Amino acid sequence: MSCNSIVRAAHRGASAQYPENTLLAFRKAIEQGLDMLEFDVRCTADAHLIVMHDLTLERTTNGHGNVNDHNLQEIRKFDAGQGEKIPLLEEVIELARQTNTRLCVELKSSTEDEEMALAEAVIRTLESTAFLSRAIVTSFSPKALLRAKAINPEVSTMLDPSPQDGSLSPREICAQALRAGANSLCYDFRFLTPEIVRECQLTGLALWAWDPDEPADLERMIQLGVSGIMTNRPDVLNKVLHDVAV
Ligand code: G3P
Ligand code: CA
Repeated sequence: MSCNSIVRAAHRGASAQYPENTLLAFRKAIEQGLDMLEFDVRCTADAHLIVMHDLTLERTTNGHGNVNDHNLQEIRKFDAGQGEKIPLLEEVIELARQTNTRLCVELKSSTEDEEMALAEAVIRTLESTAFLSRAIVTSFSPKALLRAKAINPEVSTMLDPSPQDGSLSPREICAQALRAGANSLCYDFRFLTPEIVRECQLTGLALWAWDPDEPADLERMIQLGVSGIMTNRPDVLNKVLHDVAV
């Protein structure tokens, strides 16, 4: 694969330099020319879709407790860093629409019931905002992805196989994604090998690496020939791609 065709995704936005999963981090990634925003979606107590990685509020906001114990009005009062609010999924879709950016929407939930409801709610939102064809829905849960595809077979999905510790064979990694009906898979860059790349090519799965930030790691992913890279450092990825191309 040519390095020009690698899809550049900002993992939680330009999250190494700005508060993760905020509109600020997403705008900064877009300003740096990235193709796609990766982020995590959870459900509030009153069933609104918000952008948040953790189940609990403490690490990234000044709030306390579980995200899904708070309603949207409460959630919007918390500071997610530098005065940023926790965004709604719809706000990120609107930003992406205005800037011609694609989205990688990860489903995050703590129970299987929540997971199913979240998959449906996200698909319905992508449909109602006419953004389904500009998004990939991703999850560590094969069941969530199967649910998403059952609701709308047109959706592009990406599995994060488990575990990601180097213990799975390339065949098993790809088999998990195929069993989930996924179009692509995402894997911890530290454990990516040429054999996994080859198995993805043989099975027709697009392969994404997350989340290399160091130049040497990014360069190794480019040389491996992955389809996409999710990074917390869009600026470093751009520089490495530029240097590789010249
Ligand atoms: O899908 C890749 C990556 O985003 C999954 O891990 O914990 O950053 O959501 P995490
Ligand atoms: Ca994620």
